[in-house]
Amino acid sequence: MAHTIAVLSQKGGTGKTTAVRTLADALRRSDVRTLAIDLDPQGNLSDYFDLPTDVEPTISDVLAGRATAEEAIHADMIAANLSLAETELMLGGRMGRELTLRRALSDVPGDYEVIIIDCPPSLGLLTVNALVAADRALVTAEAQYFALQGVEQAMEVVELARDSLNPQLSLLGVLLNLADMRTVHSREALISLKERFGDQVFDTVIRSSIAYAESAERARSILDYRPDLGADYIALAGEVLERLPGLAAARKRVAQLAQSSPT
Ligand SMILES: Nc1ncnc2c1ncn2[C@@H]1O[C@H](COP(=O)(O)OP(=O)(O)OP(=O)(O)O)[C@@H](O)[C@H]1O
Ligand SMILES: [Mg+2]
Repeated sequence: MAHTIAVLSQKGGTGKTTAVRTLADALRRSDVRTLAIDLDPQGNLSDYFDLPTDVEPTISDVLAGRATAEEAIHADMIAANLSLAETELMLGGRMGRELTLRRALSDVPGDYEVIIIDCPPSLGLLTVNALVAADRALVTAEAQYFALQGVEQAMEVVELARDSLNPQLSLLGVLLNLADMRTVHSREALISLKERFGDQVFDTVIRSSIAYAESAERARSILDYRPDLGADYIALAGEVLERLPGLAAARKRVAQLAQSSPT
């Protein structure tokens, strides 16, 4: 069974999509078979991976029962587009609406070791579907004032999903993203998260840089565009692998990537 990670946050622009894209890259470079799923009608992850805009079937077709998850995989990803907003509305009126993604993912080929799901910037039905389909939740926070509040709200939804629908769900970790540790507010955000969530906060903090927007625009991985910054995500991939059982060999490979990447 693949480890299935839902990447979520209470608000928009906390670097979820970038984290999904770059973690998927780092894991794949460590020979971990990784499927990325775009569950956001904005389709940013699909753009970032440079899939053709008209690629079909998409996650909407999968959720609506028009295609299987296996049919929707292109280049190790399942794409999304704006039609997902309509599908979300349609799902809202269905019995078992929270379980739709979980059921749909049952036919994902068994050789994937990790599945990473990029959630939309709200804690609504799509995010709940991701949390019910997942066994781990990764919560991202922008290193700003109120970071703690946002993470607490996301954690409430994680706990709700676990208590009502998915007892296997647990937290993978809390990621402080878009950080500038020279500033007081980034440092305070980290301190408050550590006070509240302790070791569940990843040691790796993702530095903020305009290079991320540039690399997204060019649909290039930050690992290639700016390997010095990409080193953050290689370190994060190492921590993620430490928290996922059964991937020890990949941990060694990611450590080798870390040694060869400039900081
Ligand atoms: N470490 C970073 N430093 C600076 N900018 C970043 C960083 N990571 C991502 N960005 C940029 O911030 C913006 C938001 O990032 P991203 O799309 O990954 O966030 P998101 O949480 O997925 O947003 P949404 O909630 O809208 O889905 C993008 O322009 C992205 O290129
Ligand atoms: Mg996004």
